[in-house]
Amino acid sequence: MLLVTGGAGFIGANFILSTLAGGDDAVVNLDKLTYAGNLRSLDAVRGDPRHVFVRGDICDRDFVRNLLATHRPRAIVHFAAESHVDRSILGPADFVQTNLVGTFSLLEEARAYWSALPAAEASAFRFLHVSTDEVYGSLDSGDPAFSEATPYRPNSPYSASKAGSDHMVRAYEHTYGLPTLTTNCSNNYGPFQFPEKLVPLVIHNALAGKALPVYGDGLNVRDWLFVLDHCAAIREVLGRGRVGEVYNIGGSSERSNLEVVRALCSLLDRMRPRSSGRYEDLITFVKDRPGHDRRYAVDAGKLRAELGWRPAESFESGMARTVQWYLDHPEWVESVTSGTYCGWVEQQYGNRSAA
Ligand code: NAD
Ligand code: TYD
Repeated sequence: MLLVTGGAGFIGANFILSTLAGGDDAVVNLDKLTYAGNLRSLDAVRGDPRHVFVRGDICDRDFVRNLLATHRPRAIVHFAAESHVDRSILGPADFVQTNLVGTFSLLEEARAYWSALPAAEASAFRFLHVSTDEVYGSLDSGDPAFSEATPYRPNSPYSASKAGSDHMVRAYEHTYGLPTLTTNCSNNYGPFQFPEKLVPLVIHNALAGKALPVYGDGLNVRDWLFVLDHCAAIREVLGRGRVGEVYNIGGSSERSNLEVVRALCSLLDRMRPRSSGRYEDLITFVKDRPGHDRRYAVDAGKLRAELGWRPAESFESGMARTVQWYLDHPEWVESVTSGTYCGWVEQQYGNRSAA
């Protein structure tokens, strides 16, 4: 049994679906169902007894304590977070609360649970903390890619809150011996991503004939990784990673934002041509994000050398899969953007938790 936090979000849902499809573990999914959590992403495992959904907040220590005592997981895979940089600029408080205080709360309860386990279970237990490459700050064009030894220089409230949580995880391993693992991954894209992030936002707007907003000069660079490759890497680290270690995960696919948007436009031109003109005609340069990091690039050499992980998808194949998925699932996008879904969750769950 794995305890997955944030399993109704983008990466967490992909992780649960792919883990259950691989047939290994059962999963307890603890998620608060913020605007970013969507149970429809887990439709494929509705009714599967190996997936237990529990609505709750990682900051609620009594709740987490009971959950651990009830389900006795062999590992915690911690995805739950506020994850959008632009939202962190508009309102950082939720980021401090969930990413910092929430991770601290989870660590405290994990430590108490782990300390009371019989020796064999305690030594097999793992706390895997899912983090981001953004903690390392911003690179100039000639700089080497982030390694695990790169000093932390977070620049946004989002990355600062994630950096703080990474430091707490490190301290719990160093001080208390809690068997932790940390992964720092680059930008993900793929099915079930909320359309506030660049890739789904561009697909969604393009299909609606709306402007495709590109911040600043569009030359900020990110390293893009298909989400299921990230999930596979997490399973490798969970299974065979060395306790207390940090593993960077990346796609070796650096692209400027303009290149990403143009790639999506040309895929859409091929897969769903406009009645007149091309999707690129919709590109609109808009005011830059404050403090916008210029470039991220990840050196995943340690993960490759120690655990043999490599991404299965290239940038081109992963983006084509992603565009196809959004074309095939308009009802999912509709459900997360219309507000109907939020109403349903309130009606269905209210303040209760469901198991
Ligand atoms: P997301 O925003 O899509 O999902 C986050 C999930 O966490 C949601 O389901 C939400 O309901 C849940 N959640 C939020 N606050 C909670 C709380 N207090 N208690 C319980 N659940 C809560 O995020 P994502 O893109 O899937 O990212 C998952 C993790 O991966 C995050 O920790 C993020 O920092 C990290 N990460 C993301 C990327 C990326 O490109 N998306 C890259 C590297 C690392
Ligand atoms: P985003 O998906 O928000 O991820 P992050 O900021 O965590 O890297 O943004 C990816 C890049 O795309 C980032 O450089 C900001 C840029 N961007 C735009 O140019 N326009 C947009 O509408 C959005 C959401 C992002």
